Amino acid sequence: MRVDVVSIFPEYLAPLELSLIGKARQDGLLELSVHDLRDFTTDRHRTVDDTPYGGGAGMVMKPEPWAQALAAVAADRPGDAAKPVLIVPSPAGERFTQATAHELAGEERLVFACGRYEGIDERVMEWAAGHFTVRPMSLGDYVLNGGEVAVLAMVEAIGRLLPGVVGNPESLVEESHSDGLLEYPVYTKPSSWRDREVPAVLLSGNHGKIAQWRRHEQYRRTAERRPDLLEQFDAAKLPRADRTAFADLGYDIVDGHLMRRADAGGDSA
Ligand code: ADE
Repeated sequence: MRVDVVSIFPEYLAPLELSLIGKARQDGLLELSVHDLRDFTTDRHRTVDDTPYGGGAGMVMKPEPWAQALAAVAADRPGDAAKPVLIVPSPAGERFTQATAHELAGEERLVFACGRYEGIDERVMEWAAGHFTVRPMSLGDYVLNGGEVAVLAMVEAIGRLLPGVVGNPESLVEESHSDGLLEYPVYTKPSSWRDREVPAVLLSGNHGKIAQWRRHEQYRRTAERRPDLLEQFDAAKLPRADRTAFADLGYDIVDGHLMRRADAGGDSA
């Protein structure tokens, strides 16, 4: 996969030289270039922003440096290649999820446009649609100072799904969000630590029991911390023990969907 990032703070992306993503780049699994938006300005001050039409606080990123930068990045591809995906991090974007990461990991080329200030002139996104598949993307319902931190998160989430990047692909299967649930709790040695014991089932050697305990812990954790995820969970084909686990958590299964019982106690709904 090839990734280009355009930013006014190229140094912000330095962590992408470290750890698994840095190794993936060294191994040629991921080709990543960072471009300075100011290199595509033409004035002496290398200006990238201006005041917003219609008034209001803050500054807006000017369209022309963005068009120059993105055109240069887009031009640098073989004639018959598919349009690259242009990801524009923004709190006003669609939500970036594990499913999005999987989808984007299947692309040949991704380009990230890091906005700062109040954002990028909207006409850039309209113009860019001629060269890219444009996808404004939000990490979550909070506001960052710019797209760079979001790019670090998205490139890591996508990059680790590329074949060969994570040494043991098994570890991508049993992790939070891979099956619409949160991950089960994990423990390591010593089995007794500061008067706290590892759950006995994990020491039992009974793999069937361990798998069931872990699944039920996923249900318990998800019900407690992210009950919203259970609304999408397909409960149609659950074994009896799992149905009982959900009943104990205060959920009925109606037409394959989990429904929180009105009389269920606790504060997990
Ligand atoms: N830029 C600013 N806030 C953001 C967010 N929540 N997600 C992605 N990019 C952003």
